[in-house]
Amino acid sequence: MSDRPGGAPRRDVELTIDGAAVRVSEGTTILQACRGLKIDTPTLCYLETLTPVNVCRVCVVEVEGSRVLVPACSRPVEPKMVVRTDSERVRLSRKLVLELLASSVDLSLVSDEVKGHMKRYAARPERFGPKAATVAQPPKIDNDLYIRDYSKCILCYKCVEACGKDAQNTFAIAVAGRGFDARISTESGRPLTDSACVYCGNCIGVCPTGALMFKSEYDMRRAGTWDESKQTQTDTICPYCGVGCTLQLRVQENRIVKVTSPLDHDVTNGHLCIKGRFGWQFVQNRTPQEVK
Ligand code: SF4
Ligand code: SF4
Ligand code: FES
Repeated sequence: MSDRPGGAPRRDVELTIDGAAVRVSEGTTILQACRGLKIDTPTLCYLETLTPVNVCRVCVVEVEGSRVLVPACSRPVEPKMVVRTDSERVRLSRKLVLELLASSVDLSLVSDEVKGHMKRYAARPERFGPKAATVAQPPKIDNDLYIRDYSKCILCYKCVEACGKDAQNTFAIAVAGRGFDARISTESGRPLTDSACVYCGNCIGVCPTGALMFKSEYDMRRAGTWDESKQTQTDTICPYCGVGCTLQLRVQENRIVKVTSPLDHDVTNGHLCIKGRFGWQFVQNRTPQEVK
């Protein structure tokens, strides 16, 4: 048995994953058990710090006795469960999910890990042809802090969760519309400046596709000056209040170009407020005399 901090002991659960006998604590998800076995399981809508919403279905696995494939990211293990993560059915389903997304959404800025999964499952979005429906649209640029380019949005809901009950509790954005028309929107599609947004940028921090981006990064990418090979990261503590959030300053050519915070920070789980996320112009707007 494993101990549950401050509560009743958790039972151990025994199951089989890809033929290997596994023992994990009750409440563990199939994804966590797979990760414990170093089984590479793709995820898009899942993030350790957010409530699973099961919308992308790229993590699906086969569970013996289950009519449909199940999302590994949210399904807890059960005693004597038999899980297959690499069956033909699983591979086909993951490939199709990746192909449908890549045929309709601009995935040019997704992580190398996601690009690796596209290769691993031999995803060929081009097979839907040049007339495949897309979500292409101009970026929304309505403030100086961050832009929203929904032609890169895979509707993973992470931004909605971070803006809502999982972090910020501001509820400035939600999913509007249905089917292919479903989209992330402010109330009545208003500009951010007329919405409830408080510019914490927590939505940018969790966005996996670059749909939400610092305006500084967006401008540099457009000007062709964004160069990650020239960037360094310096960790520091936010000077604005006693919470002491860890800030990761991304610096290029002696200028801060964006700020993130580590997901595994005990207090903030990677979330910040407007001051920590965007309040760094005072560092770089100093004259040489002030720096001395
Ligand atoms: S910046 Fe903060 S308040 Fe504004 S939409 Fe993003 S998460 Fe919500
Ligand atoms: S904007 Fe980003 S975080 Fe929000 S749903 Fe789209 S891809 Fe996900
Ligand atoms: S990562 Fe599991 S459903 Fe999206």
